[in-house]
Parts: sequence; C-alpha cells; structure tokens
Amino acid sequence: MTLTELLAELAGYLEPDAPELSLSPAAFTSTELWRAERERVFGRSWLLAGHASELDVPGRSLTVSPAGRTVTVSRGADGALRARSAPGGHRPAPAVEEWRGFVFVNPDPDAEPLGPHLRRIGEELDAYRLPEMTPIAGWTEEWRCNWKIAVQNAHENYHAMGLHPTTVALITPPGGAMEVRTESPWVTRLLSPFREPLAATALPLSAEQRATMYNCAVFPCGSLAAFGDSVVWITMTPLTIDRVEVRGGVLMHPSALEGQDRDALREQNEEGAAVVNREDRLGLEAVQRVVGSRFAERGHLSPKEPGVTAFYRSLARALVTD
Ligand SMILES: [Fe+2]
Repeated sequence: MTLTELLAELAGYLEPDAPELSLSPAAFTSTELWRAERERVFGRSWLLAGHASELDVPGRSLTVSPAGRTVTVSRGADGALRARSAPGGHRPAPAVEEWRGFVFVNPDPDAEPLGPHLRRIGEELDAYRLPEMTPIAGWTEEWRCNWKIAVQNAHENYHAMGLHPTTVALITPPGGAMEVRTESPWVTRLLSPFREPLAATALPLSAEQRATMYNCAVFPCGSLAAFGDSVVWITMTPLTIDRVEVRGGVLMHPSALEGQDRDALREQNEEGAAVVNREDRLGLEAVQRVVGSRFAERGHLSPKEPGVTAFYRSLARALVTD
C-alpha cells in the first residue's frame, strides 16, 4: 500500500461510521508511513519521559529517543525543568512540562501546552494524590514489534484472555466492558472494572474507585494506570520501525508504604511486571511476524476494543490533519 492509501484508510477512523477493523498489516511495516510518523507524530507530540523523582538527584537526567531523535530533560539549579535535543546544534529547545510528577516532552518548541488537556483527568484522580507518590520499581525492555502494535495493545484489555490468562485476566477480566472517553486529541481515559473491588486502601478512595482501574493514555505512547494505592506508568518509544522500547515504573503513596520492606516490594513488583511484559512481548512479536506476511489481512475489532479505535483516531488526526 502507498502512503496515500494508508492515510486514506486512517482518515476513515475520523468518520462517524469508522470501520470496526484494525489497520491494514501494511500500516505496521510501511517505511513510508514510518517516515511520516517520525515527523508528524514523534516530531510534534507530548512524550512521557518518566517520573520527576528521577531528576531529584543532581546530575541525573531523563532521556527519550523516539526514532533516534534524542531529547534529554534535566532540572536546573533553579528547580526548573529544561529539555534539549541532542546533538544540540541550533535546534530550538523542545517543550517540557511536568504534570503531577510526570515529565512530558514535545520536540516541537511551539507545542500547545498539555496541562489543560489533562485537567479533567487530574480532577478525577485527585483522591489518588499523584504528586505525593513515590517510585518503588522500574523497568526498561525492548520488544521486536512496531510501536503501534504495542500501543494499541495497551488500549484494550481483551487481549488478557489470550496473553495473560493467569495474570492480568485475574485482576481485570477481559469480558468486562471498558469505558472509553476521548478527552482531546492527546488524552483518552479508559476505565476497566476489577474482578473484585479492592478491599481496603490506605488512600481514602470511593467504592467506585476501589472497583475500577483508571487508565489515562497520552497520545502517542504514554499511559498511566491508577489502581488503589499504586500507579503504573508506561512509555512505549519506537527505536526503529520494528523495535520499541518499553519503559515503566510503579509508584505508591507513602501512606501505603508504612512498615513495608521497600526492597521486597521492589523485587515483587519488578518480578510481576517482568512476567506480564514477557506475555505481552511474546504475543506482540508474534503479531509482528503475522503483519509482515503478504497473506495478512485486516482483523476485526471487537466491541470490547473501543480504546483501539480511540488510538487510531488520535493517530489519524496527527497524520492526516495539519
Ligand atoms: Fe498486556
């Protein structure tokens, strides 16, 4: 498929009668589309770089390198965040923003601020007291698939049935309807019911909050999921057309950490994440092999995957509109 054909297909998702189909396999392998994504998506979108606590140590920085374009964020002596492109040269400094402890960068120095797009999410997450949360675990992995395969997977929990039958599926059942609300071109909120509401939390959460995983996806590749006293953040950055860096971490509220063995907690969370990540990685690398086959066809989207359609719409807006 040509780039023009792929963009026309994407534009279809912006129509009211959007197809209940996945993108064409070529969308995950086309070098023309990849080149367009590097400029129109990763050259001018808000990318989740990590958690601000990583910058509290003098000399430390956060780096995000979509498609080889490296952006580094550090905190100046005055406490302000600064982003720079590498190699420095004469390129204007990328935009940087901190939102409740999360650091976002946008290679476009004239990008519109992200904060206003997250206002309603911030209100809804108020009880989780995100700015007070502290990191307890983290990981970096590399998956051999196109970034969109990884990101669309993170927009639905239907795949838990096939890929996570003994892990994620036990917590958020894949049959449960996901409630998706598109907040803006940048932000989509996804709610998934837990199998059982959390019995008790250190934070004073409502019964509804204890029964729901609250996931906020920031287009193109960031997400944070709040459940109980924990938040898991993930950023999926393309390294090449068929390799994606998956970086993430777990934060917890200090009130839930009292009396806890921090090393044991770290180990337990990192081991748990490694198991689930491996399940996703193996499944998605298999999908990558399928889309590379010339016999591959578009798949049907289940009504249980409205998050995928929301992701395709954001992608279409970024690639098709100016
Ligand atoms: Fe998964």
